[in-house]
Amino acid sequence: MNVYDSARMADVLAPMGYAPVDAPDDADMVILNTCHIREKAAEKVYSELGRIRQIRERRAALGRQTVIAVAGCVAQAEGEEMRVRAPFVDIVLGPQTYHRLPEMVARAARAGDRSPSGVVVATDFPVEAKFDELPEASAPQGPTAFLTVQEGCDKFCTFCVVPYTRGAEFSRPARQIIAEAKRLVAQGSLEITLLGQNVNAYRGASADGSTWGLAELIRALADIPGLARIRYTTSHPRDMDDALIAAHREIPALMPFLHLPVQSGSDRILAAMNRGHGTVEYLALVERLRRAQPALALSSDFIVGFPGETDADFAATLDLVRKVNYAQAFSFKYSPRPGTPATLAEDQVPEEAKDERLQALQALLREQQLGFNRGTVGRTIPVLLERPGREPGQLLGRSPWLQPVHLEAPAAAMGRIVAVGVRAATATSLSGRLAAPVMEDAAA
Ligand code: 5AD
Ligand code: SF4
Repeated sequence: MNVYDSARMADVLAPMGYAPVDAPDDADMVILNTCHIREKAAEKVYSELGRIRQIRERRAALGRQTVIAVAGCVAQAEGEEMRVRAPFVDIVLGPQTYHRLPEMVARAARAGDRSPSGVVVATDFPVEAKFDELPEASAPQGPTAFLTVQEGCDKFCTFCVVPYTRGAEFSRPARQIIAEAKRLVAQGSLEITLLGQNVNAYRGASADGSTWGLAELIRALADIPGLARIRYTTSHPRDMDDALIAAHREIPALMPFLHLPVQSGSDRILAAMNRGHGTVEYLALVERLRRAQPALALSSDFIVGFPGETDADFAATLDLVRKVNYAQAFSFKYSPRPGTPATLAEDQVPEEAKDERLQALQALLREQQLGFNRGTVGRTIPVLLERPGREPGQLLGRSPWLQPVHLEAPAAAMGRIVAVGVRAATATSLSGRLAAPVMEDAAA
């Protein structure tokens, strides 16, 4: 979502004459777009700001101004605190205020109009206004594009800072999303990934006044000519309804890959996390999804070392992983986030135990990922060519299951879906050869 947000900030600033540059030394304005989800996010931002301040000093010696802005969830969480710890920052803006960037930049540039410490702080939550006021014109995103359809979270998992930094769940109206998707396709995108902190909790107003869930939105988007692939992330198991499961069976453009975080395989820990489901429900859901779409590959997020997690709880997580057999997954050591309930728990897990568990879990997940990738060797699969590859003459694409695929292909094939015979697999990617110039994109 931060990639999408950064692109939208660039869109907002384009009419003021700003365009992206490659190096911060060339920048009249530096925006740090920050994430607060794990670990010492704020500390990293302050140390990066120290470096950017030196760049500003180098540029000032050449008579050049540099506006410094901090955006995203660290800005949201720090707010006024940033005024004190980094008074040289000009603008602090939370995730719901990007549409106001031009006004803030103008204010920051007029020294007399600044707030007393020199910082313009905007960390309120007018999320509806943001999407209404962001410009329609946007820079092309390339063959594969992101589109935010939903923001925020009402789930309040006890480890997570998102409900506090991104605010309550909000869904964009379907009409707005469809218009944005059509623009992206007209600009050359073949694949769109629908984004939301709880994307399958989408409940948006449709043109006829009814409320659409994510399945209805996907159905409407699948009708856009030229949109070959649709994905969505991130989903909560609780919001995976029948209509969405049916969409996986019925809509060929909906790719057979689902990121469905479970976090833990222990019912006790899931309850302490306030996830609102147990392992039985999760496994039943996986089963229903696989019945609807046998080609479906699954991915998840895991947290090890949540407060109170015992060896037995962790063993239950490994057990669940073995039952599901993931194509891919992300795993993290629990890190206390300021203001979240789990931070206050007294039974924090020692760092060494977290390290050991993370290694054991990642070894198992790597094994499963390698097994999944090897399962594609010898098959011919549709690959969307996204960007230049490692070597000259190579392009990099993605399979329907989100696997990176390396192959030799003419540069003109970029942005096309081609048939690739897969020859080799590692834990992280596939390589193969063009089997035919162009192929219809179907998963199975
Ligand atoms: N500690 C560790 N991991 C976390 N995540 C969210 N909050 C924390 C935390 N405090 C992970 C979850 C979530 C992913 C985006 O980040 O696994 O699904
Ligand atoms: Fe955080 Fe996801 Fe839980 Fe919401 S559902 S609180 S975003 S982990």
